[in-house]
Amino acid sequence: MSENSFNVAALAGDGIGPEVMAEALKVLRAVEGRFGVTLNITEAPVGWAGIDAAGKALPDETFELCRNSNAILFGSVGLPDRDPTIPKEERPERAALLRLRKEFGLFANLRPVTLPKQLAHACPLKPERQGEGIDMLVVRELTGGMYFGQPKTTELVTQKDSVNPEDKKKTRRILRYERAIDTMVYTEPEIERIAHVGFKAAQLRRKKLTSIDKANVLENGILWRKVVERVAKNYPDVKLEHMFVDNGAMQMMLNPTQFDVMLCENMFGDILSDEAAALAGSLGMLPSASLGNTEAGITFGLYEPAGGTAPDIAGKNLANPIAQILSSAMMLRYSFGLNEAANAIDAAVSKAISDGCRTGDIFSSHDPGARRIGTSEMGDAIAAAI
Ligand code: IPM
Ligand code: MG
Repeated sequence: MSENSFNVAALAGDGIGPEVMAEALKVLRAVEGRFGVTLNITEAPVGWAGIDAAGKALPDETFELCRNSNAILFGSVGLPDRDPTIPKEERPERAALLRLRKEFGLFANLRPVTLPKQLAHACPLKPERQGEGIDMLVVRELTGGMYFGQPKTTELVTQKDSVNPEDKKKTRRILRYERAIDTMVYTEPEIERIAHVGFKAAQLRRKKLTSIDKANVLENGILWRKVVERVAKNYPDVKLEHMFVDNGAMQMMLNPTQFDVMLCENMFGDILSDEAAALAGSLGMLPSASLGNTEAGITFGLYEPAGGTAPDIAGKNLANPIAQILSSAMMLRYSFGLNEAANAIDAAVSKAISDGCRTGDIFSSHDPGARRIGTSEMGDAIAAAI
């Protein structure tokens, strides 16, 4: 990686992945021209596209490409119609996305949630609950917890029914049923490192961190809270607050502007970040960065929209490409240190929205000046504003 030349693996995947990726690449090309950087972007198949091309959700060549890149720009994978037709270990979510997260140690997932003023109508909450606007960051632990804990299995249980004393023949029934096991497990070092990410992020924002747990029920919650308290001593300038996850979900609906950084374990972060996305108007607006350790000032990362493949609207030029485009901005910022270029993308997205550009998910006929446009027109408008 020379000072202004970077290698990007672009894995578009399935469903709306390819169309939103095309728009992000359009915007990145505009950035290259304007900021004098070279992005060596190589596209490769992943998910069902990988299975169809090379028999695996994460083909070996795609994995090699990722290893030789400075960052991965990821679309989305998985097709609910096709997923059940192959063994669960081979399905795109596990075999491609979760594997990439694990292999590259991408333990810190950042999901910024902002509701621009012009999209207030797209937020399901009443205007008075939106305050001065919603602006929060979900920091989600991404390589631990129930997603990866062992044992993780479904087994057949054979149980002899207890003998009924009333039953003269003393018959025994044999019951057979399946039992599914997922294991929630966290170690102190895992909690510690994600807590540091959360506090550091809060220091750069409004200096408040809400740590989410279920310490009233789960062993994991008790340990989570203890470790977060300990890490907090290093960040006296950040106000720490703890919240049970059920209350957190409710507070996001009642008073979302109280949140600055929300720190979550893997599963809670998955759920609450979708809830947060609804506040931001649409899942199609929510980018994410999945980061590992920083070595020699370089942070390898995987950048993807928080939403899924949306097969119902795939291939129809209806999808909102903004989450993918904002994810590419996060890539420039976190993996390449190109803050100015990243800010230019953020600003171009804001301009397109101010100019009234709306894909269907954020369109409202009550919104004066709004124009309903397709995926590629949205990409054009943002690229033109770079
Ligand atoms: C997300 C997604 C993934 C997750 C799925 C696709 C495996 O929902 O990134 O939030 O659960 O982490
Ligand atoms: Mg999710």
